[in-house]
Amino acid sequence: MERLHLIILAAGKGTRMRSALPKVLQPLGGRPMLAHVLERADRLEASAVHVVVSHGREAVQAAFAQREDLRWVDQGHPGGTGHAVARALEGIPDGARVLVLYGDVPRIPLADLEGCARTRETLTVLGTRVADPRGYGRLIEDARGNLERIVEDKETDAAEAAVNRINTGVLAGDAVALRRWLGACEPPADAEREWYLTDVVAVARGEGQSVALIDSQDPDAVLGVNDRAQLAVQERLLQREIADESMREGLALADPARFDCRGTLEFGRDCRLDVNVVVEGTVILGDDVEIGAGCVLRDCRIASGARLQPYTVVEGARLGERAEAGPFARLRPGADLGEGARVGNFVEVKNARLESGAKANHLAYVGDARVGAGANLGAGTITCNYDGANKHHTEIGADAFIGSNTALVAPISIGAGATVGAGSTISRDVPDGALALTRAPARTVEGWQRPAKRPKSGEAGTEATEDGD
Ligand code: UD1
Ligand code: MG
Repeated sequence: MERLHLIILAAGKGTRMRSALPKVLQPLGGRPMLAHVLERADRLEASAVHVVVSHGREAVQAAFAQREDLRWVDQGHPGGTGHAVARALEGIPDGARVLVLYGDVPRIPLADLEGCARTRETLTVLGTRVADPRGYGRLIEDARGNLERIVEDKETDAAEAAVNRINTGVLAGDAVALRRWLGACEPPADAEREWYLTDVVAVARGEGQSVALIDSQDPDAVLGVNDRAQLAVQERLLQREIADESMREGLALADPARFDCRGTLEFGRDCRLDVNVVVEGTVILGDDVEIGAGCVLRDCRIASGARLQPYTVVEGARLGERAEAGPFARLRPGADLGEGARVGNFVEVKNARLESGAKANHLAYVGDARVGAGANLGAGTITCNYDGANKHHTEIGADAFIGSNTALVAPISIGAGATVGAGSTISRDVPDGALALTRAPARTVEGWQRPAKRPKSGEAGTEATEDGD
């Protein structure tokens, strides 16, 4: 919008969070709260976006370093929301329309922002009605029902405290008027109290101006986040929104209340997610993919017909068509399961390709390796890829059979169709079709007598009991 300047307040300390992380960087849906506000701000196509920072300024600016268009305003010592807006106004031309957003109101509906930006009133405030107004500024109306002033929570008397129409913090006005009103409500330098932006309402009314009040239609979405409990409330609301939207697009969720998407989820037809699945980064599912309960998926691609059994963790990995993993499998970055390949419980795969139909069904570590089509890794197979200094590659040919509890000391190559006997430590290449084993020969001693306990001195006649106590 032409002449529209946005001010986003993001300088507060966030004391109530009790965190080392600046409040506006606290994550909601896997992204900083401020990212959600900026996403909405961008949709308004304003002439400029001014972000007021102070506490944790370096961290906040670094988190948005790629946004070269933002105009950062250093508030210095944060003296209140009025002080923050006054500082930002120093860089805004006369004649501009100003819309103030709060960095800690991350789910503010775009429609509300557009409503405020569109009004031509000298001052417009966005309010809402809530069941529990505690903690928020109350909107006090005069006898004619016009907004008269805003009283901050800690300064309310009993009658004001009972008012349930609250200030969302969003406010729009003319730059020149805002500058004048703010000048009029700046507290003296020695005042205990902060400089409140909300005081401009009473000043404007004192000048005889009318102040427009718009009520948000979505009271839950306009609530500010000051502590971790309020952040958790917004997180659940956001997750429910994502779940509902995903279900509308055809995703089957066992329980939309037990689904967490902290990134981007793409999916084809008939994908099913059981309860407590967590999605992070970019996750892409083909058609007919089934994800079991408690799986964690981060930056991965899972092709059509693939299955993840419960409690499988997949990060930076790919599963081909009809591949299967889990329960309790871990696919780390670079794990790549071909069509129909399968890894079972307590199997860890890192930077390794399992060609189509290859299997590692139980208790294995496959790292820096390629496992040929149809090969079978027995329980307890380990690729010893690390010599303490460097990582080495293991190559296993198609249809090879690796017996249980085998250590393959990399770099090493096991030929196609080769067999490795259970319990071996293989440190030399095995040719195609060969059998390799390093097992000590088994010995059987018939009628073996276990050692008997010697009688202790002075305890003549004492005998060892059969269970050896
Ligand atoms: C503020 C409003 C209150 C409203 C509520 C809605 C004031 C005085 N009060 O209270 O009426 O109901 O929001 O959520 O405005 N900030 C700065 N610089 C400062 C102080 C704050 O940039 O010096 C930023 C904070 O980072 C935050 C926002 O302004 O993003 C609001 O500050 P906060 O301290 O959370 O105010 P509230 O007590 O929530
Ligand atoms: Mg707040």
